[in-house]
Amino acid sequence: MAAYIGTPTSRVDGRAKVTGEAKYAAEFNSDGLVYGAIVTSTIAKGRIKRLDASAAKRVDGILDVLTHENRPHMADADQAWKDDVAPEKGSPFRPLYDDGIRFSRQPIALVLAREWEIAVFAATLLDVEYASEAHVTDLYAERDKAFVVEKPAKPRGDAPRAYAASEVRHEDEYFVPVEHHNPMELFAATVVWEGGGKLTVYDKTQGVQNVQRYVCSAFNKKPEDVRVVSAFMGGGFGAGLRPQYEVALAVLGALALQRSVRVVLSRAQMYGLGYRPATIERLAVGASKDGTLNAMTHEATAVTSEYEDFSRNDTGWGGVLYNSPNVNFVHRLARLDVSTPCDMRAPGAATGVYGLESAMDELAVALKLDPVELRLKSYSDRDRNEDRPYTSKQLRECYAQGAAAFGWSRRNPEPRSMRDGKELVGWGMASGVWEALQMPAAARIVLTANGHADVSCAASDIGTGTYTILAQVAADALGLPIENISVKLGDSTLPDAPVEGGSWMAASASHAVIATAEEVRTELLAAAKTIENSPLADAKAEDVVLADGKIMSKHDQSRAVSITDIMRHSGADRILKEKKHEFGEDSSHARNTHSAVFVEVKIDEELGIIRVTRVVSAVAAGRILNTKTAASQIIGGVVWGIGMALHEETVFDHRFGRIMNANIAEYHVPVNADIHDIKVIFVDEPDEKINKLGVKGVGEIGIVGVPAAIANAVYHATGTRVRDLPITLDKVLG
Ligand code: MOS
Repeated sequence: MAAYIGTPTSRVDGRAKVTGEAKYAAEFNSDGLVYGAIVTSTIAKGRIKRLDASAAKRVDGILDVLTHENRPHMADADQAWKDDVAPEKGSPFRPLYDDGIRFSRQPIALVLAREWEIAVFAATLLDVEYASEAHVTDLYAERDKAFVVEKPAKPRGDAPRAYAASEVRHEDEYFVPVEHHNPMELFAATVVWEGGGKLTVYDKTQGVQNVQRYVCSAFNKKPEDVRVVSAFMGGGFGAGLRPQYEVALAVLGALALQRSVRVVLSRAQMYGLGYRPATIERLAVGASKDGTLNAMTHEATAVTSEYEDFSRNDTGWGGVLYNSPNVNFVHRLARLDVSTPCDMRAPGAATGVYGLESAMDELAVALKLDPVELRLKSYSDRDRNEDRPYTSKQLRECYAQGAAAFGWSRRNPEPRSMRDGKELVGWGMASGVWEALQMPAAARIVLTANGHADVSCAASDIGTGTYTILAQVAADALGLPIENISVKLGDSTLPDAPVEGGSWMAASASHAVIATAEEVRTELLAAAKTIENSPLADAKAEDVVLADGKIMSKHDQSRAVSITDIMRHSGADRILKEKKHEFGEDSSHARNTHSAVFVEVKIDEELGIIRVTRVVSAVAAGRILNTKTAASQIIGGVVWGIGMALHEETVFDHRFGRIMNANIAEYHVPVNADIHDIKVIFVDEPDEKINKLGVKGVGEIGIVGVPAAIANAVYHATGTRVRDLPITLDKVLG
């Protein structure tokens, strides 16, 4: 039964979003709401010597100014501040904890007022004297002090020796700068003081239960006294996986005043949160003359803060994609006086695969081999890192279908050989890879006699379409029209769910819904059997399905009882089931999604202006639950990949350890004029091993490979290889 799964179903929450009915964290109101404005540090390292808030406090309408000197109590132990996504090593940042300054734009005071404008004005009146210390914010200045962190992908063979012996070699460094999250919605929290110490926290977060546990441990609250709600998000992308400081500040304000408090970051303050860490990707790839890969070394050196060790997998992807007998992977971290980096769409892969797939392109050039050919020559049907098969891997089909749709066979391999009027034309490609993760999750279904089902789960929909896919899955599992399904998400009081990230929520939550629907079906069958002369009297659980508002025999659809009749007979007006679903532990197979990205760029030869005129992304990600919202995820990922390749760069003035473009006028993201033709292909990838539905998730695979494909196309167009992102026109002309 799959009336809805796999179809291009429009967002069930689309109307709520466009009409404003969907409320975001800063839109919840409460009587006597207090507004908090944040003051942030202007130095990168040192301590606060003196902080004088007297002028601010004299402003009419100011209720208080909280600093490390007068804030309410908060936990001292590091463990109390560790959320589900916190790095294992380190001491999480806690706002207004003490006089220490660890990074520029660190919050140092919260100005609380009856009006937002008054709070913002008074925040400008704080008089702060710092004792500055020498800081360092430049990765290149610190790379020699970088230390190695253990990663799952281990060396095999002898990569240096095999590299030295290779007939054709390529070795170079690729650089990805710091990139900051710029979701439409600013980080915000509205904490409603419910009395009796109870708080309702409307927070912008990808994990309401993660924030609930964090607030409880940091502020010594009982779980039943803290409810966290995040029903809608204006973009998460990883920035909202960990609790951000707005929620701690809003809670502090509420505790201090015993009133409801809202805290909203400014766009500039968003640059004091986490970011994609700058990373130097060093690659050395060697092959024999026929293009057989012999050696691969991938060393990444990435930024972390002084107080936490944040790192992701940049380096192991070559062992997933390719068959090289000799590999070496090393990941290093360099400590800087900056806030801790955080996850950003396909963390690790977006950066690591950029380096890897750029290097593979350079190797193909050196070999005079078509870049698709090179990849097919070393195509691996096994995950070489762990030496195990995949649950499924249709990457070969991605290359084939992507190349066909793009017209790759018409490519002249010679750089600068293709033109369109006064523009140089470049065609480049790259592979993409991500993990297909899945987590335990629970769901609740309340089925009423009128054939309506409420489906709920604490999971957040970070904009990916979780409401919609869960409605589709529930409609199919319960045999009801999708209009009869209501989905409720993003509330910590709902059944347990992990944070939404890592592309794992589609698989995790949909299986929770399936498992819960099975419980509903079991109860309906038991009740149906009690009806006199029941047509299902002898039916076994595995012989019945829910369809058309009935429970019916799989073998004979005339043997059926309607949900309405069952409930009427049993006298119940509803069935409520809640079930936690866990995926069996099984490491015998690798679980990955893959893609092949083909890009056309057109470059003005005199001005160096680069346009990405065509992208074809062919994706293998198991069963696609919703071909419309999934394609939107891939398009969004491609757009961001264009941003990574051509636009995005957080610029520091290292003398001050301060970000100089903390705004979206000077931090460039792609706009409509930058985006042209993007075609998404979902390659058929049946997968019976990974999970019941064969779902792998698509939130992140769309960005992976795109920056490399663009860099490779720019080389093909111009003959100039730019290895440090973003590829701006000065670098192309230079
Ligand atoms: Mo994603 S970077 O796991 O929100």
